[in-house]
Amino acid sequence: MTIDAKLGLALFLFLTVATLVLVVITGLKARLRSHITLVVTALVFLGCAIYFAVQVGHLYDLKSAGVITPIHLTVAKLATAAYLLPLISGLMTLRDRKHKPLHFKLAVVALILTAIAAVTGTLMLWMARPLSLPL
Ligand code: HEM
Repeated sequence: MTIDAKLGLALFLFLTVATLVLVVITGLKARLRSHITLVVTALVFLGCAIYFAVQVGHLYDLKSAGVITPIHLTVAKLATAAYLLPLISGLMTLRDRKHKPLHFKLAVVALILTAIAAVTGTLMLWMARPLSLPL
């Protein structure tokens, strides 16, 4: 069975965002075991979303979308790399709770970059010319 690339992207983006919401809730409630399990789950879903995003990208002439394309690709890479920030500060917080405020701020940075990547990615696909593929 093959999953349609656009459906796969929509599904895994939704699952990633829903899981990240649960990551934040469990972090705020100090439910540590669930928090860490959900972080791993969110990163797996994010990996699947990126896989399908690359497939969807092949269906469009992304250059035709203009300046939004390099903007989105840069923000998407930054957002992905930014997950290292809550990962590292989360490990620091496990060792010493004094790092919790820093962990919170860095988690917010990663989440804001993810939101900007989602908005710019949607705009990019909306503005790009679909490639007509042979049937
Ligand atoms: C996407 C990644 C992550 C996000 C968005 C996130 C988010 C949060 C948030 C919002 C809090 C609450 C902070 C507060 O109350 O001020 C928190 C707490 C915490 N997080 Fe994370 N986190 C992430 C990854 C991790 C990882 C990878 C670890 C550990 C390996 C971790 C360990 C902790 C710990 C130890 C706390 C404090 C819990 C307590 O109060 O006892 N987090 N996290």
